[in-house]
Amino acid sequence: MLKRAHSKMRKWGTFRLLFFIAFDHLFPMLRIFALLCLSILATGHFSHADEAAHYSTKEPSRDGIGKVYMGREISQVVSQHAIGWLERRDREGEEKPSLVIENLELAPDAVVADIGAGSGYFSFLLAPLVPEGKVVAVDIQQEMLDFIEAKKKLKKVGNIETHLGTIEDTKLEAATVDLAIMVDAYHEFSYPREMAESIVEGLKPGGRIVFLEYRGEDPSVPIKPLHKMTIKQVTAEMKAVGMEFVEVRDFLPIQHFLVYRKPSNNP
Ligand SMILES: C[S@@+](CC[C@H](N)C(=O)[O-])C[C@H]1O[C@@H](n2cnc3c(N)ncnc32)[C@H](O)[C@@H]1O
Repeated sequence: MLKRAHSKMRKWGTFRLLFFIAFDHLFPMLRIFALLCLSILATGHFSHADEAAHYSTKEPSRDGIGKVYMGREISQVVSQHAIGWLERRDREGEEKPSLVIENLELAPDAVVADIGAGSGYFSFLLAPLVPEGKVVAVDIQQEMLDFIEAKKKLKKVGNIETHLGTIEDTKLEAATVDLAIMVDAYHEFSYPREMAESIVEGLKPGGRIVFLEYRGEDPSVPIKPLHKMTIKQVTAEMKAVGMEFVEVRDFLPIQHFLVYRKPSNNP
């Protein structure tokens, strides 16, 4: 009887020992697992919270996506079917892009990112200005980039790089760009806050962002309302990502030429 009780106690003792060893080993793993679960949940929660903090929704307008950022509805994206329009012959007469190029004051070795490059209309005007540098043509539509690659071969241009971004991220290397230019593009970015942050990250300290946007203040500009922007709106959106206002130059027939700078003390 006593023997049986002893053997039972020994078994229980061994079981307890094994249990504690297992618990001791498992506990840190369980702790790590719990922390991982919590961080995944938290990340999901924060990204939703971030998105909710920056954007709201409304009934989509005719040329809008129903998503509102800092009081403006974001416009629909211009598809690759508009390449003919982007490359139209009378664009010089209507918008004077040659004046834009003159006003950019680029060093020959500058790195320029043409964000929302489309068919590359501006990338090809910019490339001769930076013979020792390059133009990075960024877009989210591979068809646009394919068009640029074909045109590069045809025109024998060596200093344009095509670069596929995502709707939220330019995927540009940090602090590598002297000038980011957006021609008639920013108003259609479906994640303007994230895109602007990503552009700022890609700029060198002291680097510039130049916007060409159809003048939103001017009802006589014959462009759909959501494809235009006001100086006040662009400046507020740039300020929100830490960019400094530099100037507005009024020399174009229907567009604003707006300049912002990344502070030199921002790496
Ligand atoms: C109206 S087109 C302008 C093209 C060119 N800048 C021009 O003026 O000829 C706008 C371009 O922005 C691109 N786009 C839209 N969202 C973008 C994003 N998040 N990142 C990069 N490009 C984007 C579209 O794919 C489209 O090619």
